[in-house]
Amino acid sequence: MKLRGNAQNRIMGMSNINLSVNGQQYSLEPVAGETLSTLLRQRLQLTGTKIGCEEAECGACTVLIDGEPIVSCIYPAERADGKTIVTIEGLAQGVHEEMKLHPLQEAFIEHGAVQCGFCIPGQIMTAYALLKHNPNPDSADVRFALKDTLCRCAGYPTIENAILAAAQALRTGEPVQKPNIPDSIHVHKSVGHTHARHDGMDKVIGTAIYTDDLVFDGMLYAKVRRAMIPHGFLTKLDISKAKTLPGVVAVLTAEDIPGEHNHGLVIFDWPVMVGLGERVRYVGDALAIVAAETQAIAEQAAG
Ligand code: FES
Ligand code: FES
Repeated sequence: MKLRGNAQNRIMGMSNINLSVNGQQYSLEPVAGETLSTLLRQRLQLTGTKIGCEEAECGACTVLIDGEPIVSCIYPAERADGKTIVTIEGLAQGVHEEMKLHPLQEAFIEHGAVQCGFCIPGQIMTAYALLKHNPNPDSADVRFALKDTLCRCAGYPTIENAILAAAQALRTGEPVQKPNIPDSIHVHKSVGHTHARHDGMDKVIGTAIYTDDLVFDGMLYAKVRRAMIPHGFLTKLDISKAKTLPGVVAVLTAEDIPGEHNHGLVIFDWPVMVGLGERVRYVGDALAIVAAETQAIAEQAAG
């Protein structure tokens, strides 16, 4: 199996993590500091679990651990030992061409709840746990269950409708009820009717590929060192220690940017990286970028 990121950083002498993921048993060597989301995404290539914030704020990384929805981005991988994990890839049954979707997945497509799709695995896994505990939720129950699962495309009404429709289908055994959207006055072959999103299927079963899911041979990992203060001037930037760390390939600063190093939507007043003598304008302004052979080394070098 191909390993990504920090999967080489084994903890010697510690027993394996034995866990069930989507019905399959795994026995994996523990890796120092590894989270469950990293284990799932990088070691098992289950990239349907998304990383939005990596600090338990957005819910995109939600998976079920022994039936409970958990944000996997802060869940230590070794704590998953002996646990049963279900990810978005584990909800539907069958192979892609003849996929039998879970009613939630079907309802998310039918109700237009899937837009960019990045939050959808987290939304569906959270909703799945809700319906297990409460098969007949009302709007308030759905909103409360999803309060920590963010959608930046802001499709909340359609997400809520989809969950209520899926709940009804699960209770009654009837097909998922479609939204009642009339055709427009002028209908043509395609225009004027509602259509399911062409990439909806991949987005609800976790096979849609986003930039962070791509893996290439010889790929390097980047980590940005960001300002920790909201305001100030950058008077000194020492990258010597980061540069000498084994596995670090490059450390780039504003000086390495040829030509214009500002960008912006209207006025070019936002530096790609803050240069020496320049102003830091917010917590998170970029100061330097590390490129390294593994994610763990990049994180260590960026401090
Ligand atoms: S990525 Fe885990 S909560 Fe945002
Ligand atoms: S569909 Fe885009 S963030 Fe929710």
